[in-house]
Amino acid sequence: MTIASAKPCLEEDDRQAMNRVFDSGQIADGDEIACFEEELASTVGVANAVAVSSGFAALHLALAALGVGKGDEVILPCLSTCPAMRNAVWAVGARPVFADVNREDANLSADAVRAAATSRTKAIVAPHHTGIPADIPALGALGIPVVEDCAQAIGAAWAGRPVGSLGTAAIFSFYATKLMTSVDGGAVCSADPALADRARELRYYRHRNDQQMRFNYKMQNLNAAVGRSQLKKLPRFLARRRTIARQLLDVFSEAGERSFRALHPIEGAVYFKLALLLPPAVRDRVLEEARIRDVPCSTEFHWVAENPASFPNAQHLMARILTIPAYPALTDDEVRWLASGLKESLAAAGGLTGGDL
Ligand SMILES: Cc1ncc(COP(=O)(O)O)c(C=O)c1O
Repeated sequence: MTIASAKPCLEEDDRQAMNRVFDSGQIADGDEIACFEEELASTVGVANAVAVSSGFAALHLALAALGVGKGDEVILPCLSTCPAMRNAVWAVGARPVFADVNREDANLSADAVRAAATSRTKAIVAPHHTGIPADIPALGALGIPVVEDCAQAIGAAWAGRPVGSLGTAAIFSFYATKLMTSVDGGAVCSADPALADRARELRYYRHRNDQQMRFNYKMQNLNAAVGRSQLKKLPRFLARRRTIARQLLDVFSEAGERSFRALHPIEGAVYFKLALLLPPAVRDRVLEEARIRDVPCSTEFHWVAENPASFPNAQHLMARILTIPAYPALTDDEVRWLASGLKESLAAAGGLTGGDL
C-alpha cells in the first residue's frame, strides 16, 4: 500500500457545488464569493472576511492593509512549515526579523519577540503551527499589530476563542491539502472593518483609475463554491483527524509512554498533522525506518531564517520533531496500515528510548 503524505477530502457534494457554478457560466465573478466570505467570518467569529486566491495573497494583503512597507520590520518565527510569511514581508518591501519559537508548542515566543522588537517593528506574523493554537493574547500584549497565520489551524481555539479572532488580522489558506479546501484560495479576516476594506480595495485593480498600486488576488466563484461546500463539513473533517491522530498516538504510547512528547493534544488544537518530539537519535532512526517502509513521516518544519545557530529552541525542535499525516481522506484500512507501519518502524529503530527529550 502507498499512502500520500497529504490528500484533499473531496466528496460528491463538492462536485455538485462545482458543477452548479460551472453550469451557470459564472465561473469567475458571482454570488458564491460573498456567501463564502459571510460563512467564513461567522465560523471564525469576526465581522469581516475577504476571500482571495491563496494564503500568500492573504498575507501580502494583510500586511499591505496594515500599512507595512519599505523601511519597516515584521517579526516572524525563524522556522516554519512554509516560507510564505517571509516572502510576503519581502513583497511589501519590509524587512523580516526572525524570532525563536517555544519548545512547548513550536509557535512564536512572546519573550523572543519582545527582545527582537524595535521602533521600526510594524507587525508580527504568528502562525498556529500544525494546528496548535499560539498564545496570540501574549503577543498582542506587546502593543504591535498581530497577523495570525491560520493556514493550518481553521477550527482551532485558544481559551475557547476561535483562532483568527484573536489578533489584529488573520489569514487562512484553502490550498488542496489544507484542513479544508477551495482548490487554491485564502482569506483575510479581521474584526476591524477599515482594515478589511483596505484589503478588499487592494485585492483587484480593474475598474480603478486612481494611480494606486493594486493586485489580482481575487477568489473565483468556482473556488468559493467548493470552499462553501467544504466549510460546512469542517467539524466532521476535524473530528476524523482527531480520531486518526489518537489511534496513531496509541502506537507511540504502547512503545514507551515517557520516551516521547506529543506537541498535541493541547486544549483547542486541531490535527493538521500529528506532531511528536522524540530524542534526536531515535527520531532520525524512526524517520529512516519509516522511509524504508514508505510510511509517510516527515519533519514538516524548515528554517526560514538564514542563521539557525541563533535560535536554540528551534534547533532543539528541529532535531526532535516527527510529523505524521492524519487527514480525513484516509480510510480505516489505510489508518490501520499506517499504524502497523509505524509500529514496525519503531521496533526496527530499536524502540523509543535513548537520548534526551
Ligand atoms: C503556515 C502557512 N502559512 C501560509 C501558507 C501559504 O498558503 P498558500 O499555499 O495558500 O499560499 C502556508 C501553505 O502551505 C502555510 O502552511
